[in-house]
Amino acid sequence: MEVKVVRYVRIRVMTKATLPSTASINPRRVVLGITGGIAAYKSAELTRALKRSGIDVQVVMTDAAMKFITATTLQALSGKRVFTDLWDESIPNGMAHIELSRNADAILIAPASADFIAKLANGLCNDLLSTLCIARNANACPLVLAPAMNREMWENPATQRNVARLIADGVIILGPDSGDQACGETGMGRMLEPEALLTAVETFFAAQNTPKNLAGVTALVTAGPTFEAIDPVRGITNSSSGKMGYAIAESLRDAGAAVTLITGPTSLVIPVGIKAIQVKSASEMLSAVMHKIDEVKLFFAVAAVADYTPIAPHPQKMKKSAQGLTIKLKPTVDILATVASLPTPPFCVGFAAESENVVEYARKKRESKRIPVIVSNLATEAIGANDNQVTLIDDSGEHPIPKASKAKIAAQIVSHVATLYLKRQSPNTTESNIKPIKAPRIHNA
Ligand code: CTP
Repeated sequence: MEVKVVRYVRIRVMTKATLPSTASINPRRVVLGITGGIAAYKSAELTRALKRSGIDVQVVMTDAAMKFITATTLQALSGKRVFTDLWDESIPNGMAHIELSRNADAILIAPASADFIAKLANGLCNDLLSTLCIARNANACPLVLAPAMNREMWENPATQRNVARLIADGVIILGPDSGDQACGETGMGRMLEPEALLTAVETFFAAQNTPKNLAGVTALVTAGPTFEAIDPVRGITNSSSGKMGYAIAESLRDAGAAVTLITGPTSLVIPVGIKAIQVKSASEMLSAVMHKIDEVKLFFAVAAVADYTPIAPHPQKMKKSAQGLTIKLKPTVDILATVASLPTPPFCVGFAAESENVVEYARKKRESKRIPVIVSNLATEAIGANDNQVTLIDDSGEHPIPKASKAKIAAQIVSHVATLYLKRQSPNTTESNIKPIKAPRIHNA
């Protein structure tokens, strides 16, 4: 089985509409550090985007950054003086590095060059930006880096070692993305676009406000489609984007859970702070789930798992034939039902994808799979979309959740499931705030 553990975390790109606004009476304060790289031009747009979203931006630039973009531009866009010098005499106590880091809710370095990453990984601090990173209170002021560099520089073992070390130190790495590079090459190393970085920062601040009622709880989530090979180059799959499963994983993380995501092939990037195992087929997904299942308390089966797989995938690419093609399929194992029938199963949540009789079919699935919670949705509208409209069905009845972004729907589902799960652990837990509309109790759930 080919199970790949993702080594470096990246942030999932969501649309701005999916996120709560961070603008408030006390605006969040971000130190935006700019280091030397072509992508520095994007920092101008990022400054505007952060400001538009109500975030107070204090720009700090390195000498190399000023070779690419001027402090004057950033001053005009941020509406604030830009700091560049460790020895700035205008700060009354002469300690710009302390002043700036104490006043920030987060430090975002975008772009973060290979050199600056190396510096941080080794605790070097010979300019204002590196010094304020090292002088910050890591508990109160997270450090977030958006790397940008040539693909060879990114893939260089030294850079990868430095990034791994920073992740181990609790630094958040956003990106890089892959694509065309300023040097004319193509590959990993592009800085995430300003909108994606804004979303990441907003998500991060929003998550800080989420109650951590699942702190210490282990959770496993399946997401995305599976791919069942017919021959070495073709296969059977479905149009699941993985967005709902990834959103569930993020909401669980935001509620404090330790999340493992088992994902079929998607174009989404692995969310920050989530361990991901990438699989292809239904049988690989089953193996990965069964390998982990004893360690987890919550299991969310969000993946659109193929119900059938070719009996004998052809070892070579099949030639076309005027006779047409018949492929013999056999049923796959139902992962969710298998988990739910374990002697001591985790708290299981299923997702029913239906194209008609949505709630009724979902209710039946909940019974047949013997799971406490199922979330029904209209597959024809939900698959691939950014929004969803679901009905959560549990022992107390049906709980419709109105149309919203998948991120918001996921947050409500996780909050409801957390209440049920915690109640099961300790029966005195208060009720969920999603009210049922009727109460068809089921047995054996
Ligand atoms: N599921 C699973 N393993 C499978 C098939 C489905 O774990 N082999 C899970 C899905 O992740 C989802 C739930 O079962 O949580 C319902 O999946 P769905 O595709 O809606 O229904 P099926 O059980 O496959 O039944 P049908 O396709 O007939 O509607």
